[in-house]
Amino acid sequence: MESSPLVLVTGGNGFVGYSVLLGILGSGYHVRAAVRRQDAIDTISRGPSVKRYLSNLTFALVPDNTKPGAYLESAKGCSYIVHVASPGVTTPGDLVSQAVLGNQTILEAAEATPSVKRVVFTASIDSLRPFERLFLNHPDNQALMSGRGDEVAPMTAETRVPTQPPVSDDAPDQHRYENSKIAATNLVHEYGATQNARFSIVNLFPGWILGPEELSRSKQEAFKGSNLILGWLFSELSLAPMLGLPAKEDVPMLQETVHLDDVVESHVKALNTEKVSGKYRNFVLCSHSPYGPVIMDAADIVRKELPQEVADGKIPFAGRLGSFKSKFDATPTERDLLGHPFKPFDKQVKDTVKWYVHLKD
Ligand SMILES: *[C@@H]1O[C@H](CO)[C@@H](O)[C@H](O)[C@H]1NC(C)=O
Ligand SMILES: *[C@@H]1O[C@H](CO)[C@@H](O)[C@H](O)[C@H]1NC(C)=O
Repeated sequence: MESSPLVLVTGGNGFVGYSVLLGILGSGYHVRAAVRRQDAIDTISRGPSVKRYLSNLTFALVPDNTKPGAYLESAKGCSYIVHVASPGVTTPGDLVSQAVLGNQTILEAAEATPSVKRVVFTASIDSLRPFERLFLNHPDNQALMSGRGDEVAPMTAETRVPTQPPVSDDAPDQHRYENSKIAATNLVHEYGATQNARFSIVNLFPGWILGPEELSRSKQEAFKGSNLILGWLFSELSLAPMLGLPAKEDVPMLQETVHLDDVVESHVKALNTEKVSGKYRNFVLCSHSPYGPVIMDAADIVRKELPQEVADGKIPFAGRLGSFKSKFDATPTERDLLGHPFKPFDKQVKDTVKWYVHLKD
């Protein structure tokens, strides 16, 4: 590696972005973190583990990443761009254009910046299937549920989903979110397929990301990020409203998961243009290919792994989450990117819940 290349990282004040930023700094790179507001800089700088790297970390304010030219200044001198920032599930307004424009301004900055060798996009497994595919009544899920899984082709990192017809701003949050992921990913796919860009692109498609992180300071904050899926199981939080259904409803929904450590490692390894070669690469990040874990097993895992905490009543088990197995093939990621299997679901749950019970209420 040349001497400490500079990486532009977006979304570094978020659950995933902060951990990715730490992983990149820990691997010896210098980082410029692009964030929207000063308070995001404060949030990152407060993180306990970032302190030792502050001399290798600078910040750039990009108040609106959908404006043309938004990242031109902050990309200057960077060898890599890691674009983690993304509108959240509950972000108001037109998520599709926010996600698409956010990626467009990144590609524009990469094109305009000769030093950039690679852009890594943090997409989502939700970029790889339409909203309807999440539910039990979808024919593929019916087949999987009735033991006819062999008839269902596995989804992979190469699965393509057409951009979905627009939905209104008051459509279920999860639906708007999925559509934004699909549209933003299609923009990047089209770009990757048609442009003969000087830089290469790696897209990472994680499932629900589970793991301890440093920025949450209370149990409530812990479920603001992707660990929320355990919140649906262990706290009073309910998934149904995100799907536009009454809070009391049990909605089985298709889910895949991945340990935060594996997500961080994937981002760091994706920067290695020699080992992960090629102009345009796609990787799914989720454990247990091809059928995935059953999310409700988390309750048994917790009873087994944290008996004392359970006996002390620290884990309410108040949630109602239904889930069923999907069919995703992420083995190419284990082989070509990580170089080892994904951490299993019981490890994902154990690490997350151990961390969670020690946060303040
Ligand atoms: C910061 O970067 C320099 C190289 O510029 C490196 O030698 C040093 O180890 C990095 N600091 C930390 C804490 O990793
Ligand atoms: C960028 O595109 C990815 C898909 O490649 C999507 O998941 C992500 O939300 C987009 N982010 C932004 C900020 O546009």
